This record gives sequence, structure tokens and C-alpha cells, in this order.
Amino acid sequence: MSRLLITGGAGFIGSNFVHYVIDHTDDTVVVLDKLTYAGNVASLAGLPANRYTFVHGDVCDKELVDKLVAKSDAVVHFAAESHNDNSLVDPEPFIMTNLYGTFSMLEAVRKHDVRYHHISTDEVYGDLALDDPHKFEPNSPYDPSSPYSSSKAGSDMLVRAWVRSFGVPATITNCSNNYGPRQHVEKFIPRQVTNIIDGVRPKLYGDGLNVRDWIHVDDHNAAVLLVLKKGRIGETYLIGVNGELDNKTVIEKILLAMGQPADAYDHVSDRPGHDRRYAIDATKLRTELGWEPKFRDFDAGLAHTIDWYRDNEAQWRPEKAAVEAKYVKEGH
Ligand code: NAD
Ligand code: TYD
Repeated sequence: MSRLLITGGAGFIGSNFVHYVIDHTDDTVVVLDKLTYAGNVASLAGLPANRYTFVHGDVCDKELVDKLVAKSDAVVHFAAESHNDNSLVDPEPFIMTNLYGTFSMLEAVRKHDVRYHHISTDEVYGDLALDDPHKFEPNSPYDPSSPYSSSKAGSDMLVRAWVRSFGVPATITNCSNNYGPRQHVEKFIPRQVTNIIDGVRPKLYGDGLNVRDWIHVDDHNAAVLLVLKKGRIGETYLIGVNGELDNKTVIEKILLAMGQPADAYDHVSDRPGHDRRYAIDATKLRTELGWEPKFRDFDAGLAHTIDWYRDNEAQWRPEKAAVEAKYVKEGH
């Protein structure tokens, strides 16, 4: 049994990770979360009080982080500003949370010699052409495009440096685009699903041919837990399930699954610097740690996700109008 400190545990992937850990291990969990617009304590409802504690605070608060890390056996660092579009409007919180916040976590785990796992994204590798036969591998060169992906790239570099210079017992995972329950309505799939629920036509950026490599959030989290328990210290593992789909296809699938004509969407202005394609080669994770995904059928996972948004309107409704107003201002 371990005492896990999980930062960003009220967000999309972090909250699903907390549920996953409670359901699949004997570990106890402390969540540290600032509850920004993206954090929602409702995502953590129903957890057993003897195994889960919530701390409202900032990963940049070094004193608080130090106290919490001192009482932990391992840290899983999810907390981040996570949305590319927001980073194009105001990069500052991305620099503070993603870079300084990671520095703050690393200093505490260094001091207390605590196992650290860093959650990152495939976006640190930049993008691929649609016809490029290659996928991202752990040693692909870093080439981030946006304030979001560059701040995540910088945070990964800090982790690598703290491993090499100070011997911090850390691992890193870089995962592709996640979908599933509890994702904020600003993100692509939940935005379109909740628009259709509201009778609004989905919005496709640019030509809609940009490709994302979709993975169910529970497959991501199963891999994170495996790397935390069995990964080699100092290593980077890529997480993905060969789930490449272009955005137009995803919108069509959502529309059909929700009983609408497949072409009932609008094209809107493109995102500046919009990455064309991401694709992950997860061979290292599969061969070294024996990882296999459970959600092999995207359509089934999508149907389950749509049901979640239909059944949990109280959770996303309070954010919806503000998100759409923000997109209108940005021309999307
Ligand atoms: P999210 O935006 O849904 O959640 C982020 C959480 O972090 C929120 O609960 C928020 O309140 C909290 N937070 C933000 N700033 C904080 C701070 N300064 N101190 C403490 N808590 C703070 O994000 P997500 O989509 O769940 O992503 C989680 C992690 O996974 C991020 O590190 C992200 O880069 C990474 N990631 C995301 C994806 C994806 O598809 N969403 C893919 C790969 C990697
Ligand atoms: P997003 O969920 O923001 O994730 P990321 O930028 O990390 O890949 O967007 C996924 C893809 O969907 C991306 O190519 C941008 C596109 N997109 C739209 O076409 N329409 C939308 O309303 C949104 C939010 C995103």
C-alpha cells in the first residue's frame, strides 16, 4: 500500500485516475488541486473517506507542496493548464503552472527522495505531415508549436534534468489525445456532444483534416499506474493505441451516434499554428511493461462518453455558456 499525492486530481484525466487507483489498488490518495475553471470536485464525489483526502491549493505553493510530499510515497503530477486555445489568448498561467509548478514539485521530491511520475503530452514533439510514415517515439526531437505544448516540453526537460543532476527517481509518460467521461466542455469531443444536446451545430476548425490519436482516458490511466509501479527510473514511455482519426470523421461519428445527419456541422476559423497530425508509437510500453489497452473500439468508447454527458448535465452545464461565449470572441 502506498500513499499517493495526485496533483490536478479534480481535472479530467486526474479525477479518472483517482477513481482508477481507488478501484484497482489498496493505495490511499491525497489530491492537491487549485480548482481553476477546469477543476471540479463533483468529479471526485463518492470516494471512500478512509482512502481519499482533498487539499485545495496551488502546485506553485512550495511550502504546501513540501509538506504534502513529505507525507507521500509517490507523486503523480497531472496539474497543468491544458488547453491550446487558452494558451494562445493568455500564455501566462501556462508558464506559471506548467513550468514553475513542475519546478516546485521537483524540488520537494528531491528534498524528500520521493518517487515522482510526470504526466505529459505527445504535443511536445510538434506535428507530423498527414503522409509521414513515422510516428512519435520516446527519442523523437522536441519541437512544440504552442504556448501550451512548449510549456509542457519545458516541464519534461526539467524532469529529465532533475533525474540526471540530482538522481530524482522520476518517470515521464507522453500520451496522445484522451476522451471519456468528466472532460471539460472546452475540449473538442465534449464541446461537440454538448452543442448537439443544446441543438447547436458542431464547430470544425479549418478544413477538419487535422489528425489526433485518440485514446480512452482509462487506458491512459492504466498505463500511468503501470509505469508508476514498474517503469524504469529515468525513462520516458509513450502511451497511445493507434487511434488516428481526422477531426471531420470524429464529428461525423458523434453526429451519427446522436441521431443527426453526418454533415450537420459548421466550419469555423482555424486555430493559429494548428498542429496537423499526432501519432504515437507505444512499442516500448507494450514490449517492456506488457501494457495492452482495453478500449479497442473507438465507436463504443464514444457512445459511452456521449451517454455520460447526457446523464451528467448538472456537472458540465455551469461552464457551457461561458465556454461558448469565449469561442465566439475567438472566432471559433
Ligand atoms: P484539465 O484541464 O482537465 O485538469 C487540470 C487540473 O489541474 C484541474 O483540476 C485544475 O484545477 C488543476 N490545476 C491547474 N492549475 C493548477 C495549479 N497551479 N495548482 C494545482 N492544480 C492546478 O487537464 P487534463 O486534460 O486532465 O490534463 C491533465 C494532464 O494530462 C496535463 O498535465 C496535460 O498536459 C496532460 N495530458 C492531457 C491530455 C488530454 O488529452 N487532455 C493528453 C496528454 C497529456
Ligand atoms: P482539443 O480538444 O483542443 O485538443 P488538442 O488541441 O490538444 O489536440 O482539439 C482537438 C482537435 O479538434 C484539434 O485539432 C482542434 C480541433 N477542434 C475543432 O475542430 N473544433 C473545436 O471546437 C475544438 C475545441 C477543437
